Amino acid sequence: MTLMPTFEALKARLEPAGQTHLLGFWPRLNEEQRFALAAQISALDLSSLFEMKQAIEMLHSQKPRELSPAPVVELAERRFPYLLGDDAEKARGAGAEALRLGKVACLLVAGGQGTRLGFPGPKGCYPLLPLSRMTLFEIFARKLKRVGTKHGKTPPLYVMVSRQNEGLTREFFAEHRYFGLDERGVHFFAQGELPSLDADGKLVLESPHALFLGPDGHGGVLQALTQSGGLAQLQRDGISTLSYFQVDNAQVPVADEAFLGLHLTRQADVSLKVVRKLDETERVGVFCLDRGIPQIVEYSEFSEAQSKLRDERGLVYWAGSIAVHAFSVAFLERLAASSTRLPLHAAHKKVPVLDARGELVTPHAPNVYRFERFIFDTLPLARHVVALEVPREEQFLPLKNPDGPFGPEGVRQALDHYWRQALAAGATAVTHDRPPQLEVDPLLAENARELAEVLASRRLSAQDLDRPLRLT
Ligand code: UTP
Repeated sequence: MTLMPTFEALKARLEPAGQTHLLGFWPRLNEEQRFALAAQISALDLSSLFEMKQAIEMLHSQKPRELSPAPVVELAERRFPYLLGDDAEKARGAGAEALRLGKVACLLVAGGQGTRLGFPGPKGCYPLLPLSRMTLFEIFARKLKRVGTKHGKTPPLYVMVSRQNEGLTREFFAEHRYFGLDERGVHFFAQGELPSLDADGKLVLESPHALFLGPDGHGGVLQALTQSGGLAQLQRDGISTLSYFQVDNAQVPVADEAFLGLHLTRQADVSLKVVRKLDETERVGVFCLDRGIPQIVEYSEFSEAQSKLRDERGLVYWAGSIAVHAFSVAFLERLAASSTRLPLHAAHKKVPVLDARGELVTPHAPNVYRFERFIFDTLPLARHVVALEVPREEQFLPLKNPDGPFGPEGVRQALDHYWRQALAAGATAVTHDRPPQLEVDPLLAENARELAEVLASRRLSAQDLDRPLRLT
């Protein structure tokens, strides 16, 4: 049985850091509540308070940047049905070989809170596809099965979850029998959490006996993968490359042989996919160099003049990151061996806090700093980085909001538009309103080229086009 630290011991721990207010409600807590609070206080990494305060300073001061555009393997044909860059096409064989040899694992980060979408459950459980109502988790599982059929080996799937959604996510997979994947090839691991600070640098409570904690960002994956034993497992299984994607991108290829091949043949530590920014105002992190070092620079860090800068080919800073990466496992091992932690980023948020009586009060303005680590901060640590341009409508459809282009209806419309173009290009009599609804099973095809191959041996009849059409 774990002994509970005494009030005095907890106070002595908190005093040097100026955080004794956490014990302010101690006299009125029952034994169980005291135990819970004491456990949280004991687990606190108080040395990270300094890092948090630095992150707040960074938020309020503009870091001087010396930006220049970074090299990208660009698309060879920028119109539908698109062609990848020559180098990526040539590298396809190397990616396929790694998949065939079972050297690739998929890493899906699904620990976010999905606050903007407002769906009551893990985002991966969102029923997205228009006819089958297939969820995001099932979409990825079916894409993965397709990879397995094609290459003879299904990459294992590592899913990062958070304390809040781990139970529901595991249950969802179990309830649906892992969507046909081998249960032994699906590994869940929980990311870490970080506390928050108020304007006076005090740690925030969410109740008289609990700290206000939140998931530590997608960048928390490095630590979580190491601490959960996932990284050691990857080593044991002879996995050399991780295909990283995020739970909200409905169109992401889960193990793209051209991208993986490029990453491998160029011996990159980290690779990333980028799309052309829609215009200078699009709020997306841009892949570029800062003093010659590759990184993703947030839109807010560009001056207006820099964002608008154009040459004869269009925007100079056009390469928007879509948060799709490949990682070399050896690189992640190096980071783990040197206990490297990615930097903290602060965000100023509205968070209900306790008043003197212990009642939650909702603020009218941002009152609390929350902290996260970002996965793209691995870029400056890498020896080689490779960036590949991909077609936006084919590979980037994130579900973020309750409405608008990144809401469920917006994403469904974009999918519908893409697949209608794909079918129309295959000379079927598909039009804007025929069939009335359209869905393509991710197990059948991931993009227009794959769909064309399938339809070469399958004719759609006029009747098919008169009713909702689900191609499976
Ligand atoms: P977002 O930045 O969209 O954050 O995450 P979010 O928490 O999902 O959504 P909002 O901002 O509350 O609306 C991008 C990806 O990173 C994962 C998410 O699950 C998503 O796949 N993520 C984010 C984590 O895995 N952990 C985190 O702590 C944050």
